[in-house]
Amino acid sequence: MKSLKVGICGFGTVGGGTFNVLTNNAIEIARRAGCDITVTQVGARRDNSDCDTSNTSITRDIFEVARNPEIDVVVELIGGYDVAKELVMEAIKNGKHVVTANKALIAVHGEEIFAAAKKAGVSVGYEAGVAGGIPVIKAIREGLAANKINRVAGIINGTGNFILTEMRDKGRDFADVLQEAQDLGYAEADPTFDVEGIDAAHKLTILASIAYGIPLQFDNCFTEGIGKITRDDVEYAEELGYRIKHLGVSSRSAAGIDLRVHPTLIPESNMIAKVDGVMNAVAVNGDAVNDTLFCGPGAGAGPTASAVVADIIDIARGIKVEPLSYNTLDDVKVLTIDEIETCYYLRMQANDKAGVLANVASILSNKGINIEAIIQKEPATGESLVPVIMLTHKVQEKVMNQAISEIEALGDINGSVTRIRVEHLS
Ligand code: HSE
Repeated sequence: MKSLKVGICGFGTVGGGTFNVLTNNAIEIARRAGCDITVTQVGARRDNSDCDTSNTSITRDIFEVARNPEIDVVVELIGGYDVAKELVMEAIKNGKHVVTANKALIAVHGEEIFAAAKKAGVSVGYEAGVAGGIPVIKAIREGLAANKINRVAGIINGTGNFILTEMRDKGRDFADVLQEAQDLGYAEADPTFDVEGIDAAHKLTILASIAYGIPLQFDNCFTEGIGKITRDDVEYAEELGYRIKHLGVSSRSAAGIDLRVHPTLIPESNMIAKVDGVMNAVAVNGDAVNDTLFCGPGAGAGPTASAVVADIIDIARGIKVEPLSYNTLDDVKVLTIDEIETCYYLRMQANDKAGVLANVASILSNKGINIEAIIQKEPATGESLVPVIMLTHKVQEKVMNQAISEIEALGDINGSVTRIRVEHLS
């Protein structure tokens, strides 16, 4: 039985997890792969006390791994853009297959990396980059290959979902939960990537490219973070029968493809609304299969290692891990956020007097915006302002922006209008 030799670069949460899965499950993995898979070398700035590396060569120079003639597969788990890209290109140049969990690298530099890999005849696997342990890239590329994909949407950042869940269920503070997500190894090195939606945008960029066969275009992905979600919004949404989730949404229409990450109200009856904690869920709609949902842990050592090792096993089996699922790419227009159409949740503080609601309704009606539901709360004791909450039917974002400006200009509306997009995913 021949053996596949792996070099792991980066020995943090995911690097350590990958080492341990390959070591602990070596017999089961060999049975599946048809050969032994051994970690020949680890390149990292420091050791990982969770791993027994007594039989493994350790180097502080990750480029030594990329150039090591013994090694067949370089696993890039250092994260970031620049050094990671240099490492991956060096590995490819040296004829190594590459497996990475680095969605930022793929979303931004994927095209260049894939072109180099194609030329060198090596594989680049990045299943672990999207939705942690859920094999969603494989599902779209292989299991759903017969379909024209209409929509890919879901929770694709575990840290953000963990924060929103803990805030809603336990009333915990944002900063406190974020610290716990960091301690658990869920968050990115720069956690603003999680809370501002950048990490989810990297993942959505990759999913859309695989789903529709379009070039990777991270710069065209709209992102809005979860930092401004208030406890009141969470409660009002629930009163209206919705949950607030941080979603990545991409769908295809005659006008083009939308690519956006933002806090979103979804009906509580939707399965995604029930996905809590660090779990991710990706709903994929294909024209033949209709609606599918893939759910599982989206971050952490074990789940991410599970996806990394699956790509290594494919390489061992001789399955060429193709970077994209199409031989040719379509240059379909990606819509700007102004051009997308969706429903909206609006919250505003209004003076408690006759005619204020009528004025707001009249602005919406003049723009053809249909109100689906409305709640007006009683003023708190001693307060003259009342919260007014509305749900609207679908409208183009550009038109909603104009309506919001006009509402904010009304003398009886205090401060700015909170707007959260609403998706029914059906
Ligand atoms: N920081 C990411 C998350 C890790 O929380 O989803 C997995 O990509």
